[in-house]
This record gives sequence, C-alpha cells and structure tokens, in this order.
Amino acid sequence: MSIKIFLTLFVIFSSKSILESKEYRYDYRYISDIDGWIKIHLFPAKWQDARLRCQLEGAVLASPETPALALILKSMAAERFPCGLYTGVHATFSPGDYFSVEGTPIARMPIEWAPNEPDNHEGKEECIILQGNGTAADVVCTDLYPYVCYRRSPVTLNECGSVDPEYHYDSRTGSCYKFHDVGKSWSRAFMACASEGAYLAIINSNVEANALSGLYGKYPDYQISGKVKHAAHIGFLSWGDIGTWTTIHGQSIKAAGYSKFAKGQPDSPDVTPCGGMFRNGELDDFSCQATGPFICEKTPDSLYENAIRLNHL
Ligand SMILES: *[C@@H]1O[C@H](CO)[C@@H](O)[C@H](O)[C@H]1NC(C)=O
Repeated sequence: MSIKIFLTLFVIFSSKSILESKEYRYDYRYISDIDGWIKIHLFPAKWQDARLRCQLEGAVLASPETPALALILKSMAAERFPCGLYTGVHATFSPGDYFSVEGTPIARMPIEWAPNEPDNHEGKEECIILQGNGTAADVVCTDLYPYVCYRRSPVTLNECGSVDPEYHYDSRTGSCYKFHDVGKSWSRAFMACASEGAYLAIINSNVEANALSGLYGKYPDYQISGKVKHAAHIGFLSWGDIGTWTTIHGQSIKAAGYSKFAKGQPDSPDVTPCGGMFRNGELDDFSCQATGPFICEKTPDSLYENAIRLNHL
C-alpha cells in the first residue's frame, strides 16, 4: 500500500470515526482493519522509552501480532522508515526468549527474518526492528528508532476523556487531575503527563491551589515513593534565567493567576530551578532532578462531550 493511499485511509477513517464514537485520543487514528488505533512516533527513541511512552498513552508498543497489523507496520516501514522501526518484540527478560510486550511468543507472529538474523551481535541485541523491506532484525535496545503505539478496541473514556481511571474531574476548576505517587524527576514527570494526554498542573487561582492541596492531602508520605515527599512537581520553572518563574505554557506565573511562594521561598532558584508545590498549595523552587510526586492536569476532552451529546456512549 502506498503511503498516499495509507494517509487517505487515515483521513477517511478518522472523519468517519467521530460519528461512530470511535475516538480514543486526538493523536490516535482509528483503523478498521485492525479494529484499533495507532499513533506513529516519528521522534526516535530507545526501546524502553518507546515501550514506556506507549504504555503511558494507554496503548502498547505495536508488534506484528496479526497479519493485518503486520501489513500496516511493514507498509509503514517501507514508505517512511526504511532504516527500521521498533516493534514490541523483545528478549529483555531472558536472552533469546522473544515475546511481544503483550506476551505473544515470536513463533506465533508473522515475522520474516533478514538473512543472518537474529544474530545477537556481541550478545547485546535484545530488541526487534522491522526494516524497509519487511524483514526483521535484532538490534541493541538503546539504539534509536521510530515506533508505533497501538490501542485495541474497544475503549471506554471517563468524564476526563481518558482511559485512565485515576483522572478525576474537579468542578471547582473545570479541569481533571491525577496525582502521581511514584516519584520522578521533573522532566520524566513532564513526559508522563504528556503521554497521558495531559500536562504538569498549572495553578491559575487560589481555588485551584486549594483543589490541588486537597488532592495532595489524600496521599500521606508513606504512600509516596521517591526521595522527596513534602513537595510535588508542577508545571512551572525558572525558564531561561534565574527567577523568571514561567508556566510550561509560557506565561509568567503572575499572569497565569497564582504566584504565592511559601514563606522564605524561593530559597535557591539557581540550583533548583523547577517548580514545586507544598502540601498547603504554596509554591517552592524545587530541584529538577529530585524524584518527587507530581500532578498532571487535563482538560476534559471535547470529544467525550460530543459523544455524550450524540448519545454514543
Ligand atoms: C532487507 O534489508 C536488510 C537491511 O537493509 C538487508 O540486510 C537484507 O538483506 C534485506 N533482505 C532481503 C530479503 O532483501
């Protein structure tokens, strides 16, 4: 299938899909042949990051699990990624034992190896790519390749337009939030929120600060893993220069509507230039590297509201 036909099919399927309430996320496209959604990640990543990002998106790193999926992945490799794209097939648990991330053994998948593959070169190749000519090869999992995430039908979206039940709507602010109690660095926290179709929370008012403080209060210290527990990463930072506290959406925190630092804070913005929030909702300059809890924010998806209006859910 040529890429033009392929893209045309995408457009047809995606426009049709809204009527059928076949939406998953704005960045995923429904394909009826595989009764599921896919997203092409053009930005090459290491295999583990590719796997994780798909997982955070509520999907899986796509493998040629079925003939239909294999066809799509192969045509994509042929048309767009002649150097190869990652599949979800790996042997990272035990050398030589290849499974898809969904647990399907490789012998059950329509995979054709390139000549002399898999060769497990120097004993370091545990991840499988599909190459432009449709053949598979094993590569080092830290090599960078584009990849495809796949989400099988059906999905049930909650009031936040998410498949993740941990996103809850707050009527006081009109936003949805998820508190992550597994600590991450600010950058990894940013990635987790982005992959969930959300963003690191931005506080726009005292009301929102209170709402987030209340959410934080539901997670006592012992329930939070990571180095820091008394402050959470949120969506602002000292962007570009010391003390220029700016939201990740580019506004000064003052202009965004909430800039209440805790007493004595910020106390060392030159070494801790990321944005944090204490349990009481007041702001803190927080180390970007420190693994701390974080809060993601998501606007309720308009697609969900459309679906309700059309009685499709
Ligand atoms: C497919 O491409 C790979 C990588 O370029 C190459 O090594 C292999 O020989 C090709 N296989 C066939 C059957 O053409």
